[in-house]
Amino acid sequence: MFEALAEQPSDSLLALIKAFAADPRPGKIDLGVGVYRDEEGRTPVMAAVKAAETILLREQDSKSYLGPEGDVAFVERLAPIVLGAEQAASPRLAGIQTPGGSGALRLGAELVAAARPGARVWLGMPSWPNHAPVLKAGGLVVTSYEAVDLAGQTLLFEAMIAALSQAAAGDVVLLHGCCHNPTGIDPDAAQWRVLADLVARRGLVPFVDLAYQGLGRGLEEDAEGLRTVLAAADEALVAYSCDKNFGLYRDRTGALYVLARDARAAGAVASNLKALSRVNWSMPPDHGAAAVRLVLERDDLAAQWRGELAAMAERIRAVRTALAAREPRLAFVAAQNGLFSNLAIDRSGIEALRARHGVYMADSGRINLAGLRLAEVDRLVAALDAVGAF
Ligand code: LMR
Repeated sequence: MFEALAEQPSDSLLALIKAFAADPRPGKIDLGVGVYRDEEGRTPVMAAVKAAETILLREQDSKSYLGPEGDVAFVERLAPIVLGAEQAASPRLAGIQTPGGSGALRLGAELVAAARPGARVWLGMPSWPNHAPVLKAGGLVVTSYEAVDLAGQTLLFEAMIAALSQAAAGDVVLLHGCCHNPTGIDPDAAQWRVLADLVARRGLVPFVDLAYQGLGRGLEEDAEGLRTVLAAADEALVAYSCDKNFGLYRDRTGALYVLARDARAAGAVASNLKALSRVNWSMPPDHGAAAVRLVLERDDLAAQWRGELAAMAERIRAVRTALAAREPRLAFVAAQNGLFSNLAIDRSGIEALRARHGVYMADSGRINLAGLRLAEVDRLVAALDAVGAF
């Protein structure tokens, strides 16, 4: 039967990891997959996480199953950081541990599809390339609309509101909580309030993907938009990733939070999340979540983690500032948030950068500023100039 299968293209973003590794040139620059690197080009295990792992190694006395909900204390400890103390304590809230933010997106989509078969999700473009496939695979009907003008590096906020004004009550709206992937262009506080009003007025269901909290303007600041929208919504979902802000990438650590209309509905949500977890992965992987829980349980480790995270965000901002200062035509990167900006550069330019200059970026022209060292800024600008990227 397998001969009936069509060959699938490999994920172009993940293929970049291998292509970069295979490039023997010493001065190559990796602006591809969304991974933080320090000024030495390393992606170290965060010291607070390492300390928690050391404690785990010493004290963990069983690896017996926890259940489809994963580590409940991890989900509870994380909730106020994501949602704020008030929403985290709401009887309308249900939460579950997931394999990374991707697992949360998939589970959230399946939950919505189970409650409302054929439900529609509105997705602003460009977006993370895996958003539409995951949401579709989870059973949702994806309607995309144009949300960013890359040539002008601006959020098309009016177009976004016009598109979402076509949405029907019960439709889902996928929003990036902060550090928009791929553009780094986030709504400002006033725009979040307009979105919150729209969601409330039209009975829409926000599904906020928060994968970079703390890597933009700050831990609290990066959650402000999400909290504004959640406060206005009757029902909402949050897909959360600890991959980047705890540096846990391959440990696949995330959570899904769902706000239901009332406590009874939240109970139904919780039981459905467990059932969906069971048929997908049975139980989420434990290690990363256990490490995060330990970090958050211990004041000294939590403070250390916050400090490390702030330093990472600071380095990203320094790279953005340096790039903008070095090249006025890149001034926009200084005003954008988080790991990514998306250059308006065509495919031939992207390929020439790879082939001739060893500069690797996503096929879309997305660059990961967190992968750039300050020492590489001049070389990057020269390479962009050489291929006529401006
Ligand atoms: C990215 O966008 O680079 C990351 O979220 C990694 C991934 O899984 O695509």
